[in-house]
Amino acid sequence: MAKRASSADRRRFILRKLHSLSGVVPLGLFVVLHLWTQAHGLWGQARYDEAIADRNAIPYLPLIEVGLVLLPLAFHGLFGVFLALQSRANVGAYPFNRNWMYVAQRLSGVAGLAFIIWHVGQYWLPKYQGQLSPAELYPALCADLSATHGGVPLIALAYILGVAATVFHLANGLWGFCVSWGIVVTRNAQRLSATVFGLGGLLLFFLGANTAIYFATGSRVAVFGVPVGSHETLARTCSDLTTAVPAGQPAGLGK
Ligand code: HEM
Repeated sequence: MAKRASSADRRRFILRKLHSLSGVVPLGLFVVLHLWTQAHGLWGQARYDEAIADRNAIPYLPLIEVGLVLLPLAFHGLFGVFLALQSRANVGAYPFNRNWMYVAQRLSGVAGLAFIIWHVGQYWLPKYQGQLSPAELYPALCADLSATHGGVPLIALAYILGVAATVFHLANGLWGFCVSWGIVVTRNAQRLSATVFGLGGLLLFFLGANTAIYFATGSRVAVFGVPVGSHETLARTCSDLTTAVPAGQPAGLGK
C-alpha cells in the first residue's frame, strides 16, 4: 500500500510549486518589463525620463514594487538558496548536458541574487530615501557605469554579468517550469522549447547588455528605428553627460 504524504512533505511540495511559479509570475515578467524600460535610455534622457514617468504614474507603485517584486524576490531567492544548498550535483559521475544545466541554474541563481541585492541598494533604496530623484537616474547610470577602477570598468562588467546570470536563470528556469508543470511533455516538445527559451534568453540578454554598454560607453550596438551612431537624432545622450570621468574617481551614486 502506498505511504500517505506527511504534512511536512505536503508543505515542502507546495513551497516548491510556489517557488517555481514565483520565478515566472511575477519575477520573470518583471525582468522583461524592467529591461525594456531601462532600454529606453538608448534613445537619450528625454525618452528615458518619459518611460520612468509612465512607470511612476502606476497607482500604488511602492506597494506594487514591494508586494509584487521585492517580497516574491526575497522568497524566491531565499528558498532557492536553501534548495541549492540541499542539492547534490552529480556532473562528475554523469556529465550530461541536463546535469550541467542543473548546476548552472543554481550558480546563476546565487550570482543573480547577489547582483540584485547590490543593484537595489544602488538605485532603489536611494530613491525611497529621497537621495535620487527620477531626473537624476539617467545621469547617475551614465556616471556609475562609465566609471573605471584601475582602468577597468568594474561596474559595467558587474552589470553585464548580472544581466547574463539573471537572464540565463530565467530562460533555463522557464524550460524547467514547462517540464515540471507538464506543459511540454514529449521529447520533441522539450527540445523545441529549449531552443525557443534559449533564443528568447539571448534576445533579452542582448537588450540588457546593449543598455549597460550604452550607459558605460555612449555606444549602442543597435537602437530600434535610429541608425547606430546618429547622436543628433537623440535628445541628450550619455556621451553628452559624461565626456570624461577620471579613472578611479567615483562619479555618481552607489559607490
Ligand atoms: C541594463 C541593466 C539594468 C539597468 C540599467 C537597471 C536600472 C535600474 C534602475 C535605474 C532602478 C531604479 C528605478 C526606479 O525605481 O525608479 C532599478 C531598480 C530595480 N532593478 Fe534594475 N536595472 C538593470 C537590470 C536589472 C536586472 C537584470 C534585474 C534582475 C531582476 C534588476 C532588478 C531590479 C529591481 C528588483 C529593482 C527595484 C524594484 C523596481 O524598481 O521595481 N535590474 N534598476
